[in-house]
Amino acid sequence: MTSPYSAYMEWAKTRSKARFNLASSGLLTYPLAELEPGPDALEIEDSYYGFPPLQERLARKAGVDPARIVHATGTSMANMLVLAASAEAGDEVLIEEPTYTLLVDAARWLRFDVRRFPRRSEAGFRVDPRDVERALTARTRLVVLTNLHNPSSAFVPPEDLRRIGDAARSVGARVLVDEVYLEAFAVLGKPRGSASRLGDEFVTTSSLTKAYGLSSLRCGWIVAEPDLARRIWRLNDLFGVVPAHPAERLSVLALDRLDKVAARARRILETNTEGVTAFLAARPELACEPVTTGMTAFPRLLEGDVESLCAVLRDRFETTVVPGRFFGAPGHFRLAWGQAPEEVAEGLSRLGQALDAFA
Ligand SMILES: Cc1ncc(COP(=O)(O)O)c(C=O)c1O
Repeated sequence: MTSPYSAYMEWAKTRSKARFNLASSGLLTYPLAELEPGPDALEIEDSYYGFPPLQERLARKAGVDPARIVHATGTSMANMLVLAASAEAGDEVLIEEPTYTLLVDAARWLRFDVRRFPRRSEAGFRVDPRDVERALTARTRLVVLTNLHNPSSAFVPPEDLRRIGDAARSVGARVLVDEVYLEAFAVLGKPRGSASRLGDEFVTTSSLTKAYGLSSLRCGWIVAEPDLARRIWRLNDLFGVVPAHPAERLSVLALDRLDKVAARARRILETNTEGVTAFLAARPELACEPVTTGMTAFPRLLEGDVESLCAVLRDRFETTVVPGRFFGAPGHFRLAWGQAPEEVAEGLSRLGQALDAFA
């Protein structure tokens, strides 16, 4: 048996760093001092099945009862727990394509029968609920999608989610919606409701990682109906038993200051979104939906080989983007703009030079 691993995550950890990083999808790290940690912030104690102050804040943020919240080690572990709690080996799980590849890697490792439904490049990667309806069978236990979409940032509106939820419920399946990038809407002052409010067939995951620049706190969460939430807590005992308590305490501080954290994120994202919009409009060799929100886009290179472009960009221009092959779409690359505005502006300029050199 080959050992399970993620080629994308290995690349992200060892090859994505560069002087000008347009590959990492998170926001520039939030400074610890701005959380104003007092002496009790690093208190050490164990919390079982949720640290109550953190449960209460996450529940308030999600607008649900704390019994529906499971705190998890980032969206990564939140997704793993939901996958593992929702299906058994051999069950069908229906995952969007393209998607964040870790979802597929984890589902395959769990020995699910992984089927895909398309998010088409020519349709701006929007979900067509009819594709989900067509692909569902009596053996499907879970439908998986990201909203906003990673890599393209396409938004799935509530009416489409409702239709997908109805179809899933009719065969006894649930719908996992990874909403880690939906937080970008909140940061930009245009919050969108979570799918968790649409019915108990929905399970959502998110974290403070991407839109707030707080990846290292590993503050992720799941919103699920209470019976499933209880099962997930018990499943989590097999993985981690108890979380790192200082991270729980710092997460409480962050959630108490989320407006301030979001205001900084908004300044960064607004400036960078403007730059990316102007850049994409000026590059006829790229096809891309207009960037309206989110932190990533997934342009298609109309002519030429994306891997060669990425190599030129990295080797000659010290800049990285993510090759589309990691999303199963080798004609595209993912561009992200969560880093400092000066770095993003220079990265875009270098990407332009690389495209010129490539032509
Ligand atoms: C869609 C999606 N979900 C989850 C994650 C991981 O999130 P976290 O850092 O909260 O574990 C990522 C990271 O790139 C992602 O793109």
